[in-house]
Amino acid sequence: MNTPPKARPFLGFGLGLRKEHYEAILQGQPTVDWFEILTENYLVEGGKPLRYLERIRADYPMVMHGVSLSIGGTDPLDVDYLKQIKVLAERIEPVWLSDHLCWTGVDGLNLHDLLPLPYTEEALDHVVRRIGQVQEFLGRRILLENVSSYVSYADSEMSEGEFLAAAAEAADCLILLDLNNIYVSARNHGFDPDDYLRHIPAERVWQFHLAGHFDRGDLLIDTHDRAVIDEVWALYEAAAVRFGTVSTMIERDDDIPPLEALVEELNRVRRIGGRVMRTVA
Ligand SMILES: [Fe+2]
Repeated sequence: MNTPPKARPFLGFGLGLRKEHYEAILQGQPTVDWFEILTENYLVEGGKPLRYLERIRADYPMVMHGVSLSIGGTDPLDVDYLKQIKVLAERIEPVWLSDHLCWTGVDGLNLHDLLPLPYTEEALDHVVRRIGQVQEFLGRRILLENVSSYVSYADSEMSEGEFLAAAAEAADCLILLDLNNIYVSARNHGFDPDDYLRHIPAERVWQFHLAGHFDRGDLLIDTHDRAVIDEVWALYEAAAVRFGTVSTMIERDDDIPPLEALVEELNRVRRIGGRVMRTVA
């Protein structure tokens, strides 16, 4: 894993694959360039989800997105889980695999949440070592995504953007930049989203996520249950200007609308991304 990243592939504009849309996708062949699958949904051998996955995969490029790596955790990496990912990747041949820059539990206890790390040199060394182990095991670079967060640590020595950039550079991994998560965390913690973008090395950003969130007023919660808001569209445009042709998709995990509605929202991504990325590519 010592060679620099090759030129990033541009997949176009995609959606998260959700079971509610399996039939509509197979019957309608929607204008979606690619799908991101949730890795954990397809780790059980046999059964319906894998059958649908293989049929849809025949028509669309895919990427794999996991939530269980706990790359920042202190428990040993879960080798069984890594083996399962590898088997699924051999079957589906995703363009890339991603997970989150976070920890999800301790002492074998899964907290079922993507928790932020303290942004310290010590945590950086720890996470860089583990990214190296994962990439060695999988034989490929992974993308790591910035999470939305509701707490921060007094011990942090750098900003999240600086930490993500330093981890990606030192571990030679790639970045999945979630613009909604940047917006949510920026509002919750009072930092400048544009300043965050300035720290991120452009050549390592291979994917963007867009999503909606719940605004409680004093706290923003990353719910993925509604449309992308205008401020996040604006941040997407700024990111597209800064980073160029980056594959972009919408995540929707709750209150899932009919496929046509998401394709319509994706058309807005396509219009913004297509216009801006063409001028900076
Ligand atoms: Fe995301």
